[in-house]
Amino acid sequence: MTSLAAQKMVHAKAPGKINVFLKVGALLDDGYHDVAIAYQAVSLYEEVRAYPADDFSIEIAGTVELSRVPTDGSNIAIRAARLLARRAGYRGGVHLEIGKHVPVTGGMGGGSADAAATLLACDALWGTELPRDEMLSLATQLGSDVPFAFTGGTAIGTGRGDQLSPALAQGQFQWVLVVADFGLSTPAVYAELDNHRDRHAQDIFPAEVQPFVDANVLQALRAGDPHMLAETLYNDLQAPALHLEPSLASVLELGEENGALAGVISGSGPTVAFLAADLDSALELQIALSAARLNVVRVTGPVHGARLVNL
Ligand code: C5P
Repeated sequence: MTSLAAQKMVHAKAPGKINVFLKVGALLDDGYHDVAIAYQAVSLYEEVRAYPADDFSIEIAGTVELSRVPTDGSNIAIRAARLLARRAGYRGGVHLEIGKHVPVTGGMGGGSADAAATLLACDALWGTELPRDEMLSLATQLGSDVPFAFTGGTAIGTGRGDQLSPALAQGQFQWVLVVADFGLSTPAVYAELDNHRDRHAQDIFPAEVQPFVDANVLQALRAGDPHMLAETLYNDLQAPALHLEPSLASVLELGEENGALAGVISGSGPTVAFLAADLDSALELQIALSAARLNVVRVTGPVHGARLVNL
């Protein structure tokens, strides 16, 4: 398959996300959990440039710690490109240049954003023109958070987090992120939660089979009210992440002492997301946390999902 588009580079970008609300159901036989997530895409983007090539290769640069990013065929962007080629019957390859700005293994879906942007870039480069529902089905095969990186905005995710329905959200929320200098493995954090639930099975209610997003979360998003949303930030993976990395507790405290409305660990962590009342308090919080020598990034949400940049 050759097309005019195949003669040039295609540039796509996709956002990182914060889990505003994340409830985890019981462990299922397939090793996954049913979850109920309220996702918000935030203004921190992964950039993917796709060049015509005969085989599959990748080059990675960026503003975040890159040492944990695989550069071989196990990289999720390469897996995304190969999956699309197989699905579309495309016989060539691609050279991918990834610009990483979302913290790596940070609980913000950076790898998922790479995968979503790669699917979009390769589809345009190769002229495969796969329908959107098929692209979303490929996204689901690559990871539970990849469909959301594709759609962006604010959405509710159920099933593994991949069954999306849009959530109405008004206005812009101001977030201040504290990025750790270490990563947390998502399977390890889920396993820690399962172990905790097993150990305390006598004392705690069994996990819901089908968790759901609290109605107050939806109302706060709809109202665009950060004070309301702060009351409802929730993450079942926070306790196991804190158990694995106790130092995160002092980060959460520091943010709340310095004007954050509330803080929550995003996804499986270790990124801590603080919600601020407005831009001024977000800036103050950013200064205070930076003064404590933390790695701080200020973002807003919601933003759009994966997009082509140069078309
Ligand atoms: O889908 P993804 O590859 O991102 O999942 C990584 C790991 O996170 C899974 O292998 C599983 O251990 C855990 N997970 C889960 N339930 C989910 C999503 C992820 O247990 N809904």
